[in-house]
Amino acid sequence: MSKKLYIKTYGCQMNVYDSIRMADVLSPFGYSETDAPEGADLVILNTCHIREKAAEKMYSDLGRMRLHKLAMEAQGKRMQIAVAGCTAQAEGDEIIKRMPYVDMVVGPQSYHTLPELIAESERTRMSQVKLEFTEEAKFDLLPQPTTAQGPVGFVSIQEGCDKFCTFCVVPYTRGAEFSRPVEAIEREVRQLVAQGTLEIALLGQNVNAYHGAGPDGSEWNLARLIRHLVAAVPEMERIRYTTSHPNDMDDDLIAAHGAVEKLMPILHLPVQSGSDRILKAMNRKHTAAHYLTIIEKLRAARPDIAFSSDFIVGFPGETEEDFEDTLKLIEAVGFASAYAFKYSPRPGTPAAEKENQVDLMLQEDRLARLFALTQRQQLQFNQSKIGTTQRALFERPGKQAGQVIGRSGHMQSVVLENAVDYTGQMVDVRITAAYLNSLKGEVVSPALPKEHYVEAR
Ligand code: SAH
Ligand code: SF4
Ligand code: F3S
Repeated sequence: MSKKLYIKTYGCQMNVYDSIRMADVLSPFGYSETDAPEGADLVILNTCHIREKAAEKMYSDLGRMRLHKLAMEAQGKRMQIAVAGCTAQAEGDEIIKRMPYVDMVVGPQSYHTLPELIAESERTRMSQVKLEFTEEAKFDLLPQPTTAQGPVGFVSIQEGCDKFCTFCVVPYTRGAEFSRPVEAIEREVRQLVAQGTLEIALLGQNVNAYHGAGPDGSEWNLARLIRHLVAAVPEMERIRYTTSHPNDMDDDLIAAHGAVEKLMPILHLPVQSGSDRILKAMNRKHTAAHYLTIIEKLRAARPDIAFSSDFIVGFPGETEEDFEDTLKLIEAVGFASAYAFKYSPRPGTPAAEKENQVDLMLQEDRLARLFALTQRQQLQFNQSKIGTTQRALFERPGKQAGQVIGRSGHMQSVVLENAVDYTGQMVDVRITAAYLNSLKGEVVSPALPKEHYVEAR
């Protein structure tokens, strides 16, 4: 009998990947995904705990799910509600204490047990909690992926984090660093490519710390994995990886950016702050100068590479001078895009205990100043593409008829108007206009030979 499954995903791309895998786990049990919670047999909230807001959002959504559950009960049907992901891991039993109508709480390393938890909750009508850390088991026990992912496919290759930045919950919610073996990753990449995926995003909380077992039994680094996948799966057109830590940006990986054409010329490399004093308090174990050296080396290896980053403003003890150091670093790099957050004290992390918390108004002021600068850089970067030809991978139709939306090699949104549906295709586009969050263009027809690309290498 067919059952309806509704999954809502919060947080990072690793969670997006996990949600897809949860659907894979449940499909042999008759569950197929639906895009609304009303009438679903099973609702999964795959949560994020990174900032307070993310966790709060889950609780307000749970309140809404309860109403859907009651509506089902009124019709004599049962809706099961599961809380998965990082907030599940961090809060565990607390969630059920606060929201007794939650049927299951399952951590990011235990979701392969969902079918058992569902059956157990069905049988006993008692809430189930499963929070073990057994990364290897999870990947060993998950079924082969079945859900097609479309033009861009995610593959988690590494999980967890041993870095313990003083602001961050990830080492607690995802556990110790773990890398999947090369063969398992290759199998998954082949499967996705066979289903039409052209771009593969390798995922991990610290993806460039990858150190998985190779087919020869030795430990492989990320550079070697990328070179291998590019050679082994020639139908894969593009590859990228996220998220990286500056300290794991080794020379081999930097060289791969110069040597592997299919490795996209964009790197998300979070720096968090440009002040060495704050970086030290964050336990980042790198300085601003070290970060700039890495950027320089990457630019030498691949001149067209662009960067994005994450920043935290108002970390405990951050002075105006520290913040200005961050602005200076941003000026020095010139980012293609940036994410910035007000520091959010997280329970159980060392920085949350600090007494020198920064005033909220000051945090907001700094965030606005930072965004003013990064948005200027982002617009400039986008405008620099006007008149060039960019190869874009089209991912989906837009909201208006005839619109189709893709991404350039630098991950910029590329919009075509009055076009045929190019979804799933790589197309050469001449850029005619640039905005803060997108580029507009026209299809170059026929496709130019390779040496005509402005940024061809
Ligand atoms: N593994 C990645 C990022 C993980 S979390 C890395 O090492 O950089 C994604 C981003 O959320 C972080 O880069 C950081 O900028 C932000 N973040 C994490 N904890 C935060 C907190 N307590 N308050 C505000 N932002 C936070
Ligand atoms: Fe969090 Fe730091 Fe680990 Fe990134 S490196 S996940 S910010 S602890
Ligand atoms: Fe959030 Fe967990 Fe990802 S805390 S950012 S969902 S690793």
